[in-house]
Parts: sequence; C-alpha cells; structure tokens
Amino acid sequence: MEKVALVTGSSSGIGYETSLALAREGYFTYATMRDLKKEAVIKKIAEEENLPLKVIELDVDNDDSVQNAVKTIIEEKQRIDVLVNNAGWGIWGTAENISIEEFRAQFETNFFSVVRMIQKVAPIMRKQGTGDIVNISSIAGRIGFPVSTAYISSKFAIEGLSESLRYELGPFGIDVIIIEPGVIKTNFFDSMKTAKKADDVYKEITEKVISGVKMMAEMGTPPKEVANVIIKSLKEEKPLPRYVVGNDAAMFLEAKKMKTDIEFENYLKKELYGE
Ligand SMILES: NC(=O)c1ccc[n+]([C@@H]2O[C@H](COP(=O)([O-])OP(=O)(O)OC[C@H]3O[C@@H](n4cnc5c(N)ncnc54)[C@H](OP(=O)(O)O)[C@@H]3O)[C@@H](O)[C@H]2O)c1
Repeated sequence: MEKVALVTGSSSGIGYETSLALAREGYFTYATMRDLKKEAVIKKIAEEENLPLKVIELDVDNDDSVQNAVKTIIEEKQRIDVLVNNAGWGIWGTAENISIEEFRAQFETNFFSVVRMIQKVAPIMRKQGTGDIVNISSIAGRIGFPVSTAYISSKFAIEGLSESLRYELGPFGIDVIIIEPGVIKTNFFDSMKTAKKADDVYKEITEKVISGVKMMAEMGTPPKEVANVIIKSLKEEKPLPRYVVGNDAAMFLEAKKMKTDIEFENYLKKELYGE
C-alpha cells in the first residue's frame, strides 16, 4: 500500500529536504507551504525525478488552512502515515525585551500549531492503527541559553509535548519521534526576527550571542543530514524517542550529561561567547 507523508514548512531548509527525501523513499509526499509562490523549485525537482510529491498550501498558524489541507489529503489518499511538524522560526531577544505578543506569536507557530496539526492528524492515524509523528525540536529544546529565550522556551515545550504524546499515542500504534538538530545551514538565521524593544542593558550579551551563533551557522550541518536521520528513524521497527543531528548538538548534549548544571553553564558561556 502506498504510504502518505505530510510535511509542514517545505518551502526551504529542513522541510524542503525532508519532503524530497520522503518522496525518494516512495512516500506520496504532501510538501506543504504557506506561500505557494515558493513552490517552483521543489516542483521542478519532483518533476525531473518523477517523484510522488504534491505541493499544497498550509499555514500552520491558521486553523482553516490546516483543516483544508488535511481534508484534501484524506479525500485524495484516505490516509496519513507520516506527519513531520517542521514549520518554525526564531526571534532574537531576552525575556525582558520580547513582548508578550512576540512570545505568543513565537509559540503560535512553534508550539500551538504542532498541537493543531496533531489534533487533526492523530485521529486519522488512530483509526489506521499506525503512524509516525516527527516533531522537529532542536538542541535548543534541551539546552537553554540567552537571547533566543522565546524560541528556546517554545522548543522545550515541544519536548514536553512529545514525551507525553509517546505515552498517549503509543498504544494506538503511533510513534512520536523527536528530532534535535544542532546548528543547520538553512534560511533560519537570516529569517530570524528581533524583539521590537531594544535597550542597552542587554546590548553586550546580545551582540556576543548573535555573533557566536552566526559563526556556528557558517559551519552548520547541511539540512540533508536532518532529512537522512528522519528517514533512518522511520525505517526502524521501533524508533527511538530522540535523534540528535550534528556534531555540535552531540557535543553539547554529551557535555550536559557529564557535567553538573553549574559546570555546564560555565562551559556554555565559554563556548558561546568566550566568557
Ligand atoms: N536551522 C537550524 O539551525 C535549526 C536547528 C534546530 C531546529 N531547527 C528547526 O527546524 C525547523 C525548520 O527550520 P529551517 O532551519 O529549515 O529554517 P527555514 O529554512 O527558515 O525553514 C522554515 C520553514 O518554516 C516555514 N514556516 C514558518 N512559519 C510558517 C507557518 N506559519 N506556516 C507554514 N510554514 C511556516 C517557512 O516558510 P516560509 O518560507 O513561508 O517562511 C519555511 O518553510 C524549524 O522548526 C526550526 O526551529 C532549525
């Protein structure tokens, strides 16, 4: 039977590569994006390689848009085997400077829309008695650091959601897989927003962190590696709860395991901004 995959945020980066990788593995893949003006590149590759891939519109922040996309897929294919919750963005700023509205907007896309997608797709997977939900978290879902505070909080929330879901959906044959990439070379950092409120209090640490992260981004892992890990996880008979992608992420998580909290904070300050 033809398996069906749904990926959010397929216009670039990890979502783009994952959509192509799933289609290359034979999944009929719905590569979804909020702005169909960005569909040309992925469509061209799919046509050239004769891949089972279709682009449809899906803005994860918009309930009607999610509803329509899922309805279209069920009308056309009657099933969803894999859901990759990938769409997301980030914002620079400290907890004091990111307004409540900015925090809410960050959580709307990075957290609530993942809940929205799962609430629409889990009933379908439960009826099938099978399915995989892949949530793209981040190393920032395991390790806090300054000046991306709303983003980090949203990814920590994804970790809690995913861990709980594993217990809730596991008995229905649905696997929930958390993907934790380190710094990946995509449009992510160029697309990052900045908190509207800026002040001198946090100027120094903000500059240090942004330049540290941007330097790491230059040497970031290619998004194809994230796609490969997702494919590998889906091929496991029993996927693990978590997959880490990138040497940087593996190194930070290993250090976190080996050190006390205070030792780790001191280590991270040095790594991030040489303090
Ligand atoms: N790059 C990294 O270092 C890194 C590391 C760890 C985790 N991640 C996570 O990986 C995921 C993908 O990021 P990326 O690195 O591939 O960055 P990216 O190239 O900027 O891709 C982000 C994707 O999300 C889409 N998106 C944003 N808001 C959306 C909405 N409301 N509805 C539908 N799509 C929306 C974007 O669409 P538009 O083109 O329309 O903006 C784009 O397709 C994110 O969840 C991010 O947090 C990234």
